[in-house]
Amino acid sequence: MTGSFAFNSLPMNPTIETLTRLHELECSECGQPHSAHQLQLVSECHQMPLVATYDLRERLSRSAAINLADASMWRYRALLPLLDDKNKVSLGEGFTPLLHLPTLGGRYELPHLLLKDEGQNPTGSFKARGLSMAVSKAKELGATGCIIPTAGNAGVALAAYCARAGLRAVVAMPRHTPKAFKEACYWYGAEVQLIDGLINDCAAWVRQRNADGQLLDVSTLKEPYRLEGKKTMGYELAEQLGWQLPDVLLYPAGGGTGLIGIWKAFREMQQLGWLAPDAKLSRMVAVQADACQPLVATYTGQQANCHDYVGRPSIANGLAVPRPLGEKMMLRVLAESNGTALSITDEEMIEGMRELARHEGLFVAPEGGAVWIAARKLLASGWIAPGERILLLNTGSAQKYLDNVEGRWEK
Ligand SMILES: Cc1ncc(COP(=O)(O)O)c(C=O)c1O
Repeated sequence: MTGSFAFNSLPMNPTIETLTRLHELECSECGQPHSAHQLQLVSECHQMPLVATYDLRERLSRSAAINLADASMWRYRALLPLLDDKNKVSLGEGFTPLLHLPTLGGRYELPHLLLKDEGQNPTGSFKARGLSMAVSKAKELGATGCIIPTAGNAGVALAAYCARAGLRAVVAMPRHTPKAFKEACYWYGAEVQLIDGLINDCAAWVRQRNADGQLLDVSTLKEPYRLEGKKTMGYELAEQLGWQLPDVLLYPAGGGTGLIGIWKAFREMQQLGWLAPDAKLSRMVAVQADACQPLVATYTGQQANCHDYVGRPSIANGLAVPRPLGEKMMLRVLAESNGTALSITDEEMIEGMRELARHEGLFVAPEGGAVWIAARKLLASGWIAPGERILLLNTGSAQKYLDNVEGRWEK
């Protein structure tokens, strides 16, 4: 053998665009432009999330944009914000399976029931996509370390990608987070701080710890590029479905990057002309935990916004986000897509996990159990019709959650 085989060294079709179409960053509130060539956090004008925009005026066909030889989220290279490939920090994230669920679909009269299994990502959750992108951009723009408040999975992903990149990682997570999340962070060499409280309490600690701004704060939506990693789920599922979209997409919403990112991808694909002109976009459903449902409370008019919401822990650790910075953006997605929001009890999540494990061979995170039960509820209420194409987004594997769910396979 001469030389080792590396996937990224596969010969690439020379007609594929390898340069990013990244244009600039815009304030999500008012559209004010911000430079994409320096490290940025929230917008100067509104202190709200910045969103990457791309120059899509010049035609970019699917065949010129997608590197079919790359079985990772990086196959959509031109639509991702990295300027130079030498800064790419990748563990093979993305391009996860889209599975048909015939048994549960048959049992509940949902013949077109699908699940995208994000538990099969490196580090066991969809957070790998966002953190691969954020750490790549951190490296590209000269950061030496990153800091994150996390409910668990994002911290593990940050620790892994920083280890890969040779950057420092500081992770603050609730003390009650299952042991496997903490262990993984230690193994990857991160500095871990355990906090009494939820992710908002971790965020307060992060602000203090990083008062000198030495570390890049990659908190959900405070940093613009995790969203770009997450949006690749939208491109992927469209590609996997032959450039059609499901009628309904159910997403377990905490901070909301997946919901907002997938919708961003749908809009970009519309602009690119990759979807049929009359194609209907999916109705987006945000699924939360009963114990912490700020978005549902605002959506249903129980409060004006989430600013004073007080949440409790859930076995779906990722859903315990009491005051998401991206609340307005999530509400916009629900409104534009004719979607809805609902919450699920922890007990129901266990039931959902049980059904997916026993009947489909899928050991999903409680967040995945939640979206399945949400689909059942929406079917029962008539919001979902039996013939519709339903996509469940399972965001993680159950493996790290055993402290929360051990033995609960028994009824
Ligand atoms: C497994 C899982 N699902 C869903 C979420 C919620 O993700 P987001 O905060 O991007 O909405 C998280 C967040 O930690 C998670 O770990």
